[in-house]
Amino acid sequence: MKDKIDSPEQTGELAGQPQGCPRQNETGCLGAGWTESAQDTLPGAVMAPGRAGFKPAPTHAAGGIELLIRPIGVHDLEQILEIEEASYRTPWTSSDFLREITYNQLAYYFLVEAGERIAGFIGMWLVVDEAHITNIAVSPDFRRQGVGEKLLLFALEIAGHHGARCAILEVRASNARALNLYLKHGFRYIGLRKAYYRDNDEDAFLMEVKI
Ligand SMILES: CC(C)(COP(=O)(O)OP(=O)(O)OC[C@H]1O[C@@H](n2cnc3c(N)ncnc32)[C@H](O)[C@@H]1OP(=O)(O)O)[C@@H](O)C(=O)NCCC(=O)NCCS
Repeated sequence: MKDKIDSPEQTGELAGQPQGCPRQNETGCLGAGWTESAQDTLPGAVMAPGRAGFKPAPTHAAGGIELLIRPIGVHDLEQILEIEEASYRTPWTSSDFLREITYNQLAYYFLVEAGERIAGFIGMWLVVDEAHITNIAVSPDFRRQGVGEKLLLFALEIAGHHGARCAILEVRASNARALNLYLKHGFRYIGLRKAYYRDNDEDAFLMEVKI
């Protein structure tokens, strides 16, 4: 995930040329330069089958509450911020989210509703034929109930409908929960961004899945 978001105008992504990314290959997507065995080096990560043939995203959370996905609106920001703050050491602010959902035309943000509550959310930028997952977080009360994978699968489906051929993201090297989620759904390790996170200079793994 991005540590702090810059607008696509600032990064040049509107022109379809993400800055700071590895060179793109001829398909417009990033090359899968890392082998299966490289996955074994990811700390705490468990190898799992890719998305093909995997179980469908859950429709209910524990306790039988129905999970529904919809776009994030301005009125959702209070609960979204609570989840963000419970999830990250350097959380995005309300103006970060506001800019994303009201101004950034490349941005798509969705949440999962569980009854009256927001269980989690995901965001991505769609730039030409590439989706960049910018954020995903699940409320601590709803973790390990399939909410994260429901969001991820939904975002990949939407990205595919909009013509994306791959999705990329950055993840903290120490974030085993997220690494497992991505590996489970077919993401592969394609690179490293050294000292990407400003709070502790932690490296980010760059991961990609073909859509
Ligand atoms: C990462 C996160 C989004 C996962 O959401 P979640 O709803 O709890 O995940 P799910 O229940 O959908 O789990 C899907 C898969 O993720 C992996 N996973 C999730 N939580 C895990 C944990 N605590 N330990 C190990 N693997 C875990 C597993 O592979 C799991 O599949 P399984 O249940 O078949 O083992 C959630 O932990 C979170 O919000 N973390 C804080 C924010 C964050 O780190 N975001 C990612 C930034 S890159």
